[in-house]
Amino acid sequence: MPEMAGHTNGGSGARDTVLAAEKLIYSYKAREGELPERVLDGIDLDVERGAFVAVLGHNGSGKSTLAKHFNAVLLPVGGRVLVGGMDTSDERRALDIRRAVGMVFQNPDNQIVASVVEEDVAFAPENLGCPSGDIRRRVDEALRVVGMSEYAGHSPHLLSGGQKQRVAIAGVLAMEPECIVFDEPTAMLDPRGRESIIRIIRRLCGELGVTVVLITHHMDEAIGADRLIVMSDGRIVMDGTPREIFGQPDALSAYGLDTPETVSLLRGLREDGFDVRLDALTVDECADAILAALSECH
Ligand SMILES: Nc1ncnc2c1ncn2[C@@H]1O[C@H](COP(=O)(O)OP(=O)(O)O)[C@@H](O)[C@H]1O
Ligand SMILES: [Mg+2]
Repeated sequence: MPEMAGHTNGGSGARDTVLAAEKLIYSYKAREGELPERVLDGIDLDVERGAFVAVLGHNGSGKSTLAKHFNAVLLPVGGRVLVGGMDTSDERRALDIRRAVGMVFQNPDNQIVASVVEEDVAFAPENLGCPSGDIRRRVDEALRVVGMSEYAGHSPHLLSGGQKQRVAIAGVLAMEPECIVFDEPTAMLDPRGRESIIRIIRRLCGELGVTVVLITHHMDEAIGADRLIVMSDGRIVMDGTPREIFGQPDALSAYGLDTPETVSLLRGLREDGFDVRLDALTVDECADAILAALSECH
């Protein structure tokens, strides 16, 4: 489905940056008598076209505030944010920016606006001025991608949490955005729902070329990302591949974060004197590391 892949203008630089924050500073309005607190305190970040970037950080570290800057829901107090080269503070580009960057939030119930699934999916493209003749195709295609075609005529309110979240993703996909920012999209789902959403996110990026920013507090969901960003107190404090970041459990712990279960398991085994490799991340790699260590024992 190439028509849903990245398709808008794009920069001419050697590195093709879709999202950029430059010295981004943000404070919410302070209550009377209080000084505004910097919730984002000088964020510099480039996200390359087609990348899958996961963002981790303790509660209140500024992840959601950063996410809202990427489609101009919030505007910087200092510095700037660029979407495909467009400055989010430029009101003339507001519609283009909202079309380029879709957002999916935690609670699927808050994202559903219509009483029939396909109408819900059509809502965003209709409101963002997509050509009306094109909307049917977009809705069908988006429902197909998230595996919800057979529910097109259903009421969204009777669906499971995971299914509702898939409908919410379809609504965003129907805009054919270049980039989708997911803000803890699995936080309210059961394990099956979580898995289905993560699988879809991987496909969006891997097969359709959509640039993905995934904010999550599940370390294992970040394993499949190309790049991992750790935020703490409004700053980016770590930035690397999942292997690099999860290889530093002490630093993560200082920022209030764990390692994925696979990494914790192997480290625990090593502490117990079992000579396992520590570089495994996925469950398969973890199993291989344990098997390799076992065969060494014999
Ligand atoms: N609408 C708001 N008004 C005032 N303060 C807010 C608002 N939203 C978030 N905050 C504060 O900004 C900080 C960062 O919040 P947030 O971006 O939601 O962090 P995260 O998503 O990492 O948990 C927190 O201290 C939070 O209390
Ligand atoms: Mg948040």
